[in-house]
Amino acid sequence: MGSGGAHSEQSVIVRAMRPAEFDEVRALSVAAFGGDPAIGPLLDALRGSWAWEDDLSFVAEVDGSIAGHVLYTHAFLDAPERIVDVLVLSPIGVRPGLQRRGIGGRLIEESLRVLERRSEPLVFLEGHPGYYPRFGFLRAGALGFTAPSVRIPDAAFMVYPLPSYSSWMTGALVYSDAFWRVDAVGLRE
Ligand SMILES: CC(C)(COP(=O)(O)OP(=O)(O)OC[C@H]1O[C@@H](n2cnc3c(N)ncnc32)[C@H](O)[C@@H]1OP(=O)(O)O)[C@@H](O)C(=O)NCCC(=O)NCCS
Repeated sequence: MGSGGAHSEQSVIVRAMRPAEFDEVRALSVAAFGGDPAIGPLLDALRGSWAWEDDLSFVAEVDGSIAGHVLYTHAFLDAPERIVDVLVLSPIGVRPGLQRRGIGGRLIEESLRVLERRSEPLVFLEGHPGYYPRFGFLRAGALGFTAPSVRIPDAAFMVYPLPSYSSWMTGALVYSDAFWRVDAVGLRE
């Protein structure tokens, strides 16, 4: 299932990131995105904001080393009835050289199992529509959600309903200000 190679499923451990591991995780994420200069400042801005919670930062450990990271942070859903506390998955990265061996998949699957025990009802993301549906992510527009920017393609705006989701929860996703401060929303020309 795309998880072959040197690292079998059994050798990958997904766990919460320890606060002291932030610098290592930051460097790994920048490398995963090919040195993209926006990733480090995004992680810094999120970590310094109200949207961050230590329990929402997960790492994949392979043979005792951190091989991948996925971060969820808080955001608002502006639903007709009230504001709803929701989560945004961003960023996710796997160490170059270890990509396409199932590590990213394990990170997403196992972190979602943890999130299923929390009170937030929805996880949103902007991402490749060929990747995330295999984990249960759906087209967010089809469930009545509006993206926070017109620069997010419809097919890339996805949502994962958690157990406390209810169909009255529709409306606009509003990213936390950290995403705007570092201009990390949507695609620019
Ligand atoms: C995206 C990422 C986190 C996935 O983790 P991973 O461990 O490589 O992925 P998995 O092994 O679990 O799954 C492999 C699948 O991911 C998808 N995938 C991985 N890298 C991809 C890429 N660059 N472009 C498109 N699809 C990609 C493919 O569907 C692939 O399946 P295939 O090998 O059968 O084609 C990882 O490749 C990464 O860090 N990429 C660079 C950073 C990034 O783009 N993050 C996501 C932003 S939305």
